[in-house]
Order: sequence, then C-alpha cells, then structure tokens
Amino acid sequence: MMDKPIDFYYFSGTGNTHLVVQRMGEVFKDHDISVKLFKIEDSRPEDVNPGHIIGLGFPVAELSTYDFVWKFIKSLPPASGTEIFMVDTLAGFSGGIVGPVREIVKNKGYHPTGACEIIMPPNIFYIEDDKTSKKKVKKGIKKAEKYAEALIKGKTKWGRVPLLSDAVYYTSLIGLKFTETKLNQRLLHLKTDGEKCSKCQICYKLCPINNILLNEDGSPKHLNQCQYCLRCTSFCPKGAIPCPVNYKGKTYRAVKAKELLPDHE
Ligand SMILES: Cc1cc2nc3c(=O)[nH]c(=O)nc-3n(C[C@H](O)[C@H](O)[C@H](O)COP(=O)(O)O)c2cc1C
Repeated sequence: MMDKPIDFYYFSGTGNTHLVVQRMGEVFKDHDISVKLFKIEDSRPEDVNPGHIIGLGFPVAELSTYDFVWKFIKSLPPASGTEIFMVDTLAGFSGGIVGPVREIVKNKGYHPTGACEIIMPPNIFYIEDDKTSKKKVKKGIKKAEKYAEALIKGKTKWGRVPLLSDAVYYTSLIGLKFTETKLNQRLLHLKTDGEKCSKCQICYKLCPINNILLNEDGSPKHLNQCQYCLRCTSFCPKGAIPCPVNYKGKTYRAVKAKELLPDHE
C-alpha cells in the first residue's frame, strides 16, 4: 500500500485538474510518501518508471479525454504488477474513460488500484459565476483529499461497467475524430484578434501540442490540430482569442497561467 514513490502524471487545460492533483500530492507528502508531479505534455511515456507507483490525472473531454492524453496512456511502458491509480475532473458526465483506461493499463501489466471522478466547474459552453465556481472547486478539492487518503489506506477501487463504458468510449472516439477534421477545425477555429493581441506569447507557451506557432513579428499563428483544451482562450490576458462555443464569450481559469507552463519556464 503506497510503499514506493509515486510519479503522478497529469494534464490540466484550465487549472481544475492541476488543483486536484496538487492537493492529492500534498496529502501524500503529509503521510511521508514521496511524490513527484509530471506534466503529461512535457513527459515522454517511455521515461515512465514502472518501479514506482503511477498516478494519472486529466480532464474529461468529449466523454473521455484529449487525444494526446490517450496517446500518452496507450504508450505507457509494460509493467508487471505496478500499482496505478487515476483521477479525472469533469463538469458532469464522462462514461467513456474509467473502464477503458483500466483495460489498457491492465493489459500492459499494471495493477489498477483506484479511480475517482471529481466534479469541478465547467470550462466550456456555460461559465458559472465566480461564487458558484469557487464553491464547486472547494468541494472538488475536499473530494480529492478524501480520495488520496483512501488510496493510502488501500480502500479504493477501479471498477468498470463493461458494456456502457465501451459504448461511451467508442462514441467519444468518434467525437475526438470529428474534432480533428478540417471542417471542425474551421468551424471552431480559435484565432487571435491581431488588434487586441499584445504579443506576450503566453498562448504559444501554453499550447500543449504546439498547435500555436509565432509569426516573424511575434504574433501567434494557430494551426489546424487544435484539441480544444482551451488554454489559449482562457489565459490570454487581453481576451484576444475568443471561444466561439462559450456563452457570451466568457472564459474560465482556476489558476494563474504560470502554474501550467512547462517546469523549465
Ligand atoms: C473540449 C471540452 C470537452 C469537455 N467535455 C466534457 C464532457 O464530456 N463531460 C464533462 O463532464 N465535462 C466536459 N468538459 C468540462 C471539463 O472536463 C471540466 O471543466 C474539467 O474540470 C476541466 O479541467 P481542466 O481545468 O484541468 O482542464 C469539457 C471541456 C472541454 C474544454
């Protein structure tokens, strides 16, 4: 039961998952368990050490998670009995992630010990007011604390509802595939309003998949591989990257941009 160091790999678009993973990390440390946090977008799956306990954290997107997070999980090295646990954050419903991830890691030889889904404020479509968001974050972090304590005590489970989770998983894969299409990239194109942009380049630094490059004058150039983690729109200090699907153009962020920058920044 948590008698090895924990390597906790996570991605967070707008900060919800970051807060949950940070809090879990603190709880582990309070119990003298050594834990290191790694950002998935800055990590290579082949560097994952199956001699440690592995944690995975990510947001739910389109009923499962972002394609680049799937790729990381699917590329984890084989293991023989390495303990692994997961946590995700979501606005309301997933269905296509807990079971399918369990099958993937189990087939690679990991021992799945716990999975937990934590409701946090939505970061897309309808952005709640500050008071409602803060209340939800507080409740979510409390749940994260309890989950970490239960993991330490060995009182967690990573279950699976086979038919339902597979059906939702395949629905989600169709959604993720559609996200990649040219049509969708055109319909939902996130692009910078040159009049408002101050060329601070934070969007370029934050994009987890290098979908934002810089023009010669330092202004951002958005390519067509966006996976809609919403970092660029949410953290632009000038509000220069409007999100076409958000009600009244509001954006959400749970932390300051610097928390999500690569660790070497
Ligand atoms: C493109 C996209 C798709 C999402 N899909 C779902 C979903 O299927 N179900 C859900 O409950 N929340 C969904 N959400 C909401 C996020 O999962 C939720 O706000 C999460 O806590 C964000 O975490 P982060 O701040 O770490 O990125 C979606 C958000 C985005 C940006």
